[in-house]
Amino acid sequence: MRQSSLVVVANRLPLDDSAAPDGACEWRRSPGGLASALHAILEQTPATWVGWAGGVGPTPPLPDLGSLRLRPVSLTEEELRGYYEGFANSTLWPLYHDAVQQPVFDRGWWETYRSVNQRFAEAAAEVAEPGAAVWVQDYHLQLVPQMLRELRPDLLIGFFLHVPFPPPELYMQLPRRVELLRGMLGADLVGFQREQAAHNVAQLAKKLLRVAATDHAITVDGRTVRAGAFPVSIDVAEMRALATRPDVVTQSRQLRHDLGQPKRVLLSVDRLDWTKGIEHRLTAYSELLRDGFVKVRDTVMVQVAVPSRERVESYRGLRDRIEGEVGRINGEYGRVGEPAIHYLNQPFARAELAALYQTADVMVVTPLRDGMNLVAKEFVAAREDGAGALVLSEFAGAAAELEQAFLVNPHDVDGLKATLLQAMEADSADLTARMTAMRRHLARHDIMAWARAYLTALDHTGRLAERLP
Ligand code: UDP
Ligand code: G6P
Repeated sequence: MRQSSLVVVANRLPLDDSAAPDGACEWRRSPGGLASALHAILEQTPATWVGWAGGVGPTPPLPDLGSLRLRPVSLTEEELRGYYEGFANSTLWPLYHDAVQQPVFDRGWWETYRSVNQRFAEAAAEVAEPGAAVWVQDYHLQLVPQMLRELRPDLLIGFFLHVPFPPPELYMQLPRRVELLRGMLGADLVGFQREQAAHNVAQLAKKLLRVAATDHAITVDGRTVRAGAFPVSIDVAEMRALATRPDVVTQSRQLRHDLGQPKRVLLSVDRLDWTKGIEHRLTAYSELLRDGFVKVRDTVMVQVAVPSRERVESYRGLRDRIEGEVGRINGEYGRVGEPAIHYLNQPFARAELAALYQTADVMVVTPLRDGMNLVAKEFVAAREDGAGALVLSEFAGAAAELEQAFLVNPHDVDGLKATLLQAMEADSADLTARMTAMRRHLARHDIMAWARAYLTALDHTGRLAERLP
């Protein structure tokens, strides 16, 4: 395979092999914010993307994506269990999301996590040309920066964490805390969604490694590792273009019609993940129905809950609980042909999402903890009409930027109910003022601004950032 001067390493490639019903390979866009963000940047950039294509065993031939080359890393069934479902998504994911769900510490998973990280590092080393920049992404690959530095000291290495980095008292629970911290600090620049994360890492470096550290520079093995916040964003132009496409506008009108022309549509779009606060939201909505503040006759809720990590026990249990609760609410408050909640456990294409965003009067984004939450930003970008209310959790990274949203503590069900009502009843002048301010912010802070800021910080000469379209 040809070598590249820019290599991105992420657990996922932009394409996911979601086997068709007959077992044949069928490529779909990968789920989640990381894939959305990186795809938007790399689509037209000469680079190589190293990652997993979603299946088990050898990767089928991948489609040609033009200037973006794909270098697959295949996973065996055992690796999938120990590395992806185990250490990444049952240990690190819960721990990094405030341990809202109890992290599982299984000694058997560590060795697989380590050896899969080593394979990603070797794949990156193979496709990086001399002196190239390699940008490693997220908690699945936290050991890769250090491993890569050992293999290829000539490289410029970046690391970006898409999820929150926990406070030291939580991180200290990790059995392999020193190795994981050292792994990440193999990079030249470590980037986070929020300054708080950089602060947490600096505190840990001082405590665990006994090295000199500030929030923006950590000295390890005689090297200076730079650190900072680079809040990720979305392809604003793409979402605006989608939102104004005539077929999307027509689809949005049709959706409203299909929903029975209600006075109000509440919308939530999440991966079916316990970090997203879906259960708390359902409780709040159900109580508003019970107490008569919301009537099925004039208000409907649409909950898109995209299947995610379905082989992990905690996710299966969550799906059962959510589906039970949606069934109960519809059974109790729905009418014939008028369910209280339209529940969709399936992924939607971006154009369909744009239509949904335009249909919503209130977008309800209430994760218990979220690194950023791109859905909130996509909703704002899709509202060319300047209308619509955004109810947003204080615990989503996006809350630090979209300050004009109706901010809420999603753990506080009474507060959530009050904020939902406030957003539903806000007057249009207030909504337009809020939306205009949020759209202004997003226009200046889109995905390209994120990539440029990070790559310029990684490579002061500016040569890397110049490569972006
Ligand atoms: N998304 C999608 N189809 C869906 C639901 C979501 O393409 O049916 C995309 C959505 O547009 C967004 C991403 O998935 O770009 C979700 O990112 P976010 O940061 O909100 O959450 P994550 O899933 O990464 O935790
Ligand atoms: C979050 C993570 C990403 C991940 C995505 C989807 O956004 O930060 O790294 O790709 O969720 O999860 P999945 O397990 O399907 O890759």
